[in-house]
Amino acid sequence: MKVLITGGSGFIGAEIASQLAESGSKVVVYDIGAWDRQINNIEYVKGDIFDAVHLREALTSCDAVIHMVGLADARVAQEHPQLSFDLNLRSLQVAFEAARKSNVFRFLLPSSASIYGPADRSPIAEDTPPKLTNIYTYHKFMAEKLAECYTNSYGMNTTVLRLFNVYGIQGRGILNILVDKATKEEVIKLYGEKQKRDFIYISDVAKAFANILDIAYNRYEVFNVGTGIGRSIEDIVNLVKEHFPSMTIEYGKYDGVLYDSVADITRLKKATGFDPDKSDRNLRKAIGKMIRNSKTGAEK
Ligand SMILES: NC(=O)c1ccc[n+]([C@@H]2O[C@H](COP(=O)([O-])OP(=O)(O)OC[C@H]3O[C@@H](n4cnc5c(N)ncnc54)[C@H](O)[C@@H]3O)[C@@H](O)[C@H]2O)c1
Repeated sequence: MKVLITGGSGFIGAEIASQLAESGSKVVVYDIGAWDRQINNIEYVKGDIFDAVHLREALTSCDAVIHMVGLADARVAQEHPQLSFDLNLRSLQVAFEAARKSNVFRFLLPSSASIYGPADRSPIAEDTPPKLTNIYTYHKFMAEKLAECYTNSYGMNTTVLRLFNVYGIQGRGILNILVDKATKEEVIKLYGEKQKRDFIYISDVAKAFANILDIAYNRYEVFNVGTGIGRSIEDIVNLVKEHFPSMTIEYGKYDGVLYDSVADITRLKKATGFDPDKSDRNLRKAIGKMIRNSKTGAEK
C-alpha cells in the first residue's frame, strides 16, 4: 500500500509515517516543513497543502491519504480563527478534491475528543452528541461533517479518528508543560486537578491509524482513540513529582465546568483488536526522556 500523509513531518504524522514505513508500506510525506531525511520507504515532498497541482502530483499511484495538516492548539485557534479555518477546514477541502481527482478514495482524518466538551457521561462513546465550546471544536466538527459529505456525495471512504490526550516527547500537551515547568523550577499552578483525562501514547495513536487503514470500509465511520483509562491531572503531576519531590504546587479555584473525558474504545477494539498501553510505563518513560532532553538540549 502507498499512503500519502499530509503534515507527515508533524508530531503525530511523523510517528504514523515511521510506523507505516517500518511495516512495509510506501509513504509519501507531504509537508510544508518536510525533512530531508533518508528513511526506508518514506519519500519526503516539501509542499504546501494549498498547492493543489503539486499535491496531485505527489498523490500519483497512492492508495490512501492520511490528512494530518491542521492546527492542533485550541488556544491559538481561538486567537486566530482564520488560521484555524484554513488549516483545519480549507486544507481538508483541498485534500479531498486532490484525492477525488486522483482516484484515491481511502481517506483518514484526525479529529479531537474536545468536540465532546463537558459530556454528561464518561467513558464517552462515539454517538455522544458533541458540545462545541470554542472555534477549534467547531472547526473539528465541521471537518468531520465535510468528511461525511465526501463519503455520501462522492463515494470517498472516510474514517475519522477522535483523538483523546495524545502524549509524546515532541508533544505540546499537559505532560510536556508540567515537565518544562518542573525542570525550570517554576511554580506549578493547578486548577480542576481532579478532572480525569484519557492519556494515550503517540505510538498507540499511530497504531490506531495503521490498524484502521487495514480495514476496507466503504462507509463513513468514526472511532474514539484513547485507552479507556482515566487519569486525573493530579495523577500526572504526581508522576512528574517522582523526579522533582520538592516542586512547588499552588492550587487555584477552577472557574470552568469540571468534567471527565475518558474514551469508550469498544468500537475500535471490536473493529481492529486495538489494545493500547494502559499502564504508567510509557508515561514514566516519556517523562524521564523529556527531563533528560531538557538537560542535554536534545530534540528527541
Ligand atoms: N496533538 C494532539 O494532541 C492532537 C489531538 C487531537 C487531534 N489532533 C489533530 O491532529 C492533527 C495533527 O496534529 P499535530 O499535533 O501532529 O500537529 P503538528 O502541528 O505537529 O503537525 C502539523 C503538520 O502540518 C504541517 N503543515 C502546516 N501547514 C501546512 C501547509 N500549508 N502545507 C503543508 N503542510 C503544512 C506542519 O509543517 C506540521 O508538520 C491536527 O489536525 C490536530 O488538530 C492533534
